[in-house]
Amino acid sequence: MKAPQIKTFLPGPKAAELIAVDREFVSPSYTRIYPLVAESGEGVWIRDPDGNVFLDFTAGIAVCATGHCHPRVVEAIREQAGKLLHMSGTDFYYTPQIHLARKLASLAPGAGPRKAYFGNSGAEAVEAAFKLSRWHTRRELNLAFFGAFHGRTMGALSLTASRTIQKKHYNPLVPGITHVPYAYCYRCPYHLCYPSCGTACVTWIEDTLFRTTVPPEEVAAVFVEPVQGEGGYIVPPAEFHRELHRIARKYGILYVADEVQSGMGRTGRMFAMEHFSVDPDIIALAKGIASGLPLGATLAWSHIMNWEAGSHASTFGGNPLSCQAALATIELLQEGLMDEVALRGAELMTGLRELQQTFEPIGDVRGLGLMVGVELVKDRETKERAGALRDAVIQRAFQKGLLILGCGENVLRLCPALTIKREEVTLCLEILEAVFRELLQ
Ligand SMILES: Cc1ncc(COP(=O)(O)O)c(C=O)c1O
Repeated sequence: MKAPQIKTFLPGPKAAELIAVDREFVSPSYTRIYPLVAESGEGVWIRDPDGNVFLDFTAGIAVCATGHCHPRVVEAIREQAGKLLHMSGTDFYYTPQIHLARKLASLAPGAGPRKAYFGNSGAEAVEAAFKLSRWHTRRELNLAFFGAFHGRTMGALSLTASRTIQKKHYNPLVPGITHVPYAYCYRCPYHLCYPSCGTACVTWIEDTLFRTTVPPEEVAAVFVEPVQGEGGYIVPPAEFHRELHRIARKYGILYVADEVQSGMGRTGRMFAMEHFSVDPDIIALAKGIASGLPLGATLAWSHIMNWEAGSHASTFGGNPLSCQAALATIELLQEGLMDEVALRGAELMTGLRELQQTFEPIGDVRGLGLMVGVELVKDRETKERAGALRDAVIQRAFQKGLLILGCGENVLRLCPALTIKREEVTLCLEILEAVFRELLQ
């Protein structure tokens, strides 16, 4: 088995040189949190230009579902690259896009025909869902959740309510969106406890919001992440989605599941929404769908995706290479990878809960499959957020050759490739234990 190998100070000399050039020529809006320069990748391993090897528990922000450069994905891309690079699905037909649309329609939860729209990113998938919901319903209002991240284009950004830095100086955004509290049970916005709360966060929408400020018959769609991602890897109770769906149905509001981060096997099911037994009207997909190639997809019931020719399109959306990478990814997922995800996720969560018994600041360990969050607090009673400790853990882990990211203000985000092996999960846990020991001594 491999192990991280850190041979230089980080960043090493070659990485440092590249970072200096990056500083001069690349947009400063990116949020690089440690100086990793990725040169090559294989499975869950990343090599930098100085020969340092890292265990990657980020999968390029939950994207490289089948690991870095899975041979079958690479082969599918290579083969397609020799045939056709681009033709634009906007104006022409080509095989990979047609095959992928049919495949996705067959996978989407719920009985009934579905259609797919293709873009290039998560934001575009959400943007398409946003426009489609207006087009189909002819309604102007929308609901979304605090903590939500739906992307950074103006429409998607308007639905996002993750951090003010993402919105600062960009107002006015798209009007008509009301944000409401998500089912963040570890920090219930209503200071109640599940299940005795009776999913107050949902009943409040109907009993207060719809009676006072938001006429439900004017709401086109509710946008919701099955598991809130950037907001802190928050897993809501199934009842939250079921109740929300019930209310949406009652008022003819479309249920849009943003599965950009949670979809395509990440939670051990093809779509995270399957855990909650809710069949969304529209599903936004991206990230893991093509194992690293840019692709966004918006799936909707066929009777909902009834917009007319010219009402929405993208030159590059559903590029042939990305579609072939997605078809290869789906094949791998269906060959048993998703069962492995559930097992590896359970091992990871068990290991983290063991660490929780030793290390007081580990306030909450939560997740579904390989979408696992560890919330750090200063005090388990007051639950005061330990953001600085979270950042220190990430930095120290990097120095030891483990790549992790954060989400929310004080949460460690663990989202490795779905191909991760048991020994690699153990390795991650060992490194994290060493990091906590060093930082908390
Ligand atoms: C749930 C969710 N929706 C949308 C997006 C936006 O995706 P992209 O960065 O590909 O535009 C993200 C990205 O993190 C996401 O997590």
